[in-house]
Amino acid sequence: MTEPGFETPPQVDLRIDRAHSARVYDYLLGGKTNFPADREVGDRVMADLPGARADTTAARAVMHRMVRRLAEVHGVRQFLDIGTGIPTAPNLHEIAQAVDPACRVVYVDNDPIVLAHSRALLTSTTEGRTAYVHGDLQEPEQFLADPGVAATLDLSQPVALTLINIVHFLSDEAAHPPVRKILDALPAGSFLALTAGTADVAPERMDKATRRYAEAGITLHFRTRERVERFFAGLELDEPGVVPVNHWHPDADAAATEHKVSAYGGVGRKA
Ligand SMILES: C[S@@+](CC[C@H](N)C(=O)[O-])C[C@H]1O[C@@H](n2cnc3c(N)ncnc32)[C@H](O)[C@@H]1O
Repeated sequence: MTEPGFETPPQVDLRIDRAHSARVYDYLLGGKTNFPADREVGDRVMADLPGARADTTAARAVMHRMVRRLAEVHGVRQFLDIGTGIPTAPNLHEIAQAVDPACRVVYVDNDPIVLAHSRALLTSTTEGRTAYVHGDLQEPEQFLADPGVAATLDLSQPVALTLINIVHFLSDEAAHPPVRKILDALPAGSFLALTAGTADVAPERMDKATRRYAEAGITLHFRTRERVERFFAGLELDEPGVVPVNHWHPDADAAATEHKVSAYGGVGRKA
């Protein structure tokens, strides 16, 4: 499949024969950067879970509200977004730079197809700056040493680390150490904004989703609220704490979602 703006990086195998979390997510969001294997998983998830598309949209929309609040209320001007996903307007830098055009954003993802589309993430204002780094959350030393990070972020100043809809692809053992390491590398006044899937709200639905993804070789790790709160240990939690994402500072759209979305989210500040 070729589409405008799609460039396959040299010597990168996109493994389009297999479903991939970023592309299944893109399909659930109604995007076009996906392949038959991804659509097959997405279709099965939507057949099993009516409303899956609306829930996925709500799971992304909280990123908009978190970034807006971080920039507007907390004065954050630098963002490190890991597990960025396939570009979907508005992207994080567009939201932050609408508050202050001088905002700077580094995007990180480990999926070659996100890399192939990363040009859409490099549309910074002239006052600000964005960079894309191909990297893995589990290897923070590697991506933090990328020249794109130093050229974009001043790590002596507060940074918001945004982990939106990524940690449910990792176990606690795999996710906590790198998240800690990254937070340790950031100065006081930095933030963590994180959302993560849960089975608390609708256990049967999420059990089906887990099975559908597992059939395609993708392991999901849903967490209780308490296990999501553990990511914020040692941080000052912003109000209203860790809550279902459509209850986190809802706008009219989020408030209109009658059921709770099966993901928790929160924002915490490093003192
Ligand atoms: C469900 S998408 C979320 C995209 C975006 N953050 C959002 O909420 O709209 C998850 C993204 O995390 C990426 N991802 C999964 N595991 C990762 C890892 N260990 N390191 C970096 N990126 C990862 C996937 O490639 C995918 O793009």
